[in-house]
Amino acid sequence: MDRRRFLIRAGGIALYPAWETKARAQRSNSEPSVVEAALEARETWVTLAGRPAQLYTYNGQLPGPRIEARAGDTLRISFRNSLSEVTNLHYHGLHVSPGGNADNSFLEVPSGELLTYELPIPRTHPSGMFWYHPHMHGSVARQVSRGLAGVILIRGEFDDQPEVRNTPEFLMVLQDFDIASDGQVNEPNASEKARGREGPLVTVNGESNPRVPLARNGWTRLRLLNASPSRFYRLRLEGHPFMIVGVDGGLVEAPFEAEELLLVPGQRLDVFVRGESPLGTFRLLNLPYDRIGAMGGGMTGSTFGQKTAEPDVVATFEYTDAPPALWAMPDRLAPIERLSSPGIRRTFRFGMGMGMSGGGFTINGRLFDPKRVDTRVELGSIEDWDLVNRSGMDHPFHIHTNAFQIVSGNGEVEPAWRDVVLVPAGRSVRIRLRFSDYSGRAMYHCHILDHEDLGMMGIVEVAP
Ligand code: C2O
Ligand code: CU
Ligand code: CU
Repeated sequence: MDRRRFLIRAGGIALYPAWETKARAQRSNSEPSVVEAALEARETWVTLAGRPAQLYTYNGQLPGPRIEARAGDTLRISFRNSLSEVTNLHYHGLHVSPGGNADNSFLEVPSGELLTYELPIPRTHPSGMFWYHPHMHGSVARQVSRGLAGVILIRGEFDDQPEVRNTPEFLMVLQDFDIASDGQVNEPNASEKARGREGPLVTVNGESNPRVPLARNGWTRLRLLNASPSRFYRLRLEGHPFMIVGVDGGLVEAPFEAEELLLVPGQRLDVFVRGESPLGTFRLLNLPYDRIGAMGGGMTGSTFGQKTAEPDVVATFEYTDAPPALWAMPDRLAPIERLSSPGIRRTFRFGMGMGMSGGGFTINGRLFDPKRVDTRVELGSIEDWDLVNRSGMDHPFHIHTNAFQIVSGNGEVEPAWRDVVLVPAGRSVRIRLRFSDYSGRAMYHCHILDHEDLGMMGIVEVAP
């Protein structure tokens, strides 16, 4: 497998396999254009953390190729399904139409078939990190756990500033795998699915504990994606706090420092690290986090490695000599519009009725039904949604098409637009949404992908 192969197509750009994006092949003109990419889902033998594994890939790469575009562009993705099972693509976090051949998660691409997705990205679209992954109800966790995930970067003004453009940037796609000695992926049993499958092998861009260069006397930009089906990452970099500039698909209003990052499935973070320590190596650690609580029922060790006392080493940062470039991080980035308090408030309750036996993963008592609309809203309206979790397990809530702001309930108070929010066990979180620009049906669900597959998903229809 040639992981460094470049594929650039006429009319725009499209696919970059390299993760170090300093010398990025940006288009020099900023006229909107059509960005074309060809993606093929197929079963492939790859080298995963130094050992052969038979996974699902896009174009033979793990993770899939990076797609870059700018607000105003149209993404045209020719997608071929060379798997022996049905699949499709979802464009997580993009504010694009959920209908037609755009980000329509109701579409299905049978084995052997080709579908061209076309996604006009509005000129006002925020710049940020998004991603594509399969969304076939019932198979999402299995397909993603076999490797299907790729990054979409939307570049904008912030990226164009010379200091930012000259800052080394690394994409870090976090995936975990459960691989048997013959290189095949182990399928979890029913109770592992009920908890949400986790694999003991944690990888960054398909590597275990990769080395990442850290610019001495300068900034290094890390763009993290949790593309794992269920695993939470609680990250700390020895000797270095993180400067958070963006969450999910957009910039925060004001950069802020954090000692630790919590990244739940589906989430992205855009952080800068200041390289001002003495030379040396520093470990990026994954600290214990208990997302299952009492439900775990004495499960220790095993594949749910987050319960063990020793933190996993996710990556190792190593100083490199670079010309000094410690520019001053601006105090303010993008103003975040404060949405006015709406008249409409709704409640969504996560349910795990049948406990660990595998059934009963519901929202408001109902299992997902692709033929049923659960929530009807008006185009342009603002609503508050109370996400209520009386179950014994954490659930990260996600909605397609429109981002939201957190009003209260989970401690993440910095003004920002998000598309995934953690609703911890026993807690409620209030979010404020605006249904802008697109009518049609879209999905919301728990982003523990086994929970989504087991039914913890609903449909919102935006009426024009
Ligand atoms: Cu990343 Cu509906 O999912
Ligand atoms: Cu999504
Ligand atoms: Cu869940």
